[in-house]
Amino acid sequence: MRKGYFITFEGGDGAGKSTQINRLMEHLENCGFDVILTREPGGTDIGEKIRNIILDPENKEMDAVTEAMLYAASRAQHVAQVIKPAIEEGKIVICDRFIDSSIAYQGFGRGLGDSVSIINSYAVGEYMPDKTVLLKLKPQLGNKRISTREKDRIELESESFHQAVFEGYETLEKMYPERIIGVDATGTIDEIHDVIRNHIDDLLGL
Ligand SMILES: Nc1ncnc2c1ncn2[C@@H]1O[C@H](COP(=O)(O)OP(=O)(O)O)[C@@H](O)[C@H]1O
Ligand SMILES: [Mg+2]
Repeated sequence: MRKGYFITFEGGDGAGKSTQINRLMEHLENCGFDVILTREPGGTDIGEKIRNIILDPENKEMDAVTEAMLYAASRAQHVAQVIKPAIEEGKIVICDRFIDSSIAYQGFGRGLGDSVSIINSYAVGEYMPDKTVLLKLKPQLGNKRISTREKDRIELESESFHQAVFEGYETLEKMYPERIIGVDATGTIDEIHDVIRNHIDDLLGL
């Protein structure tokens, strides 16, 4: 049995991950929990360097396998240096994107398939999330919400790529119904927060 909890947030760009993570953090801290917020790719000094390579729009020639392995390398460091120690200390770790992003973006979006899960099993080991909140918003709607944001290399991908990612997430939701909580992300910020909070309160026995 591990002492702490590991919660991840998933979904396309603009789906509301950052917004909902902040709301959930506030709730959990009010309940007296020690909560750590982290993100991928990145979350460590080494991981942030890898993140810059992955997301740099100048890196147009990057091969899909290289991309998948860079994400997994960043994740391995993140698990070893941040996630594992925090969970072992009894903290709640909330992570903005994790393994499901790799499976949706590189497995489904880039078409690399199951190899992505295999690479990532080395990085993640036994530290799979207890619960994953999947914010479901069609890519066109997510894109509208972030229309003023400067886009990184992945965000600049085609509409068909983002559609494949969206469908990949839906496949994952069906494959792991115990772990993945699919939430309709078209509601108001408060409505979505209430749904997420109910699920997480159940997890924590609140
Ligand atoms: N439920 C919502 N309805 C409308 N706008 C939202 C909602 N949730 C978030 N937003 C807005 O959409 C934009 C993207 O949200 P954000 O949380 O940054 O998404 P992500 O982290 O998934 O990219 C922000 O401007 C945010 O204020
Ligand atoms: Mg965000």
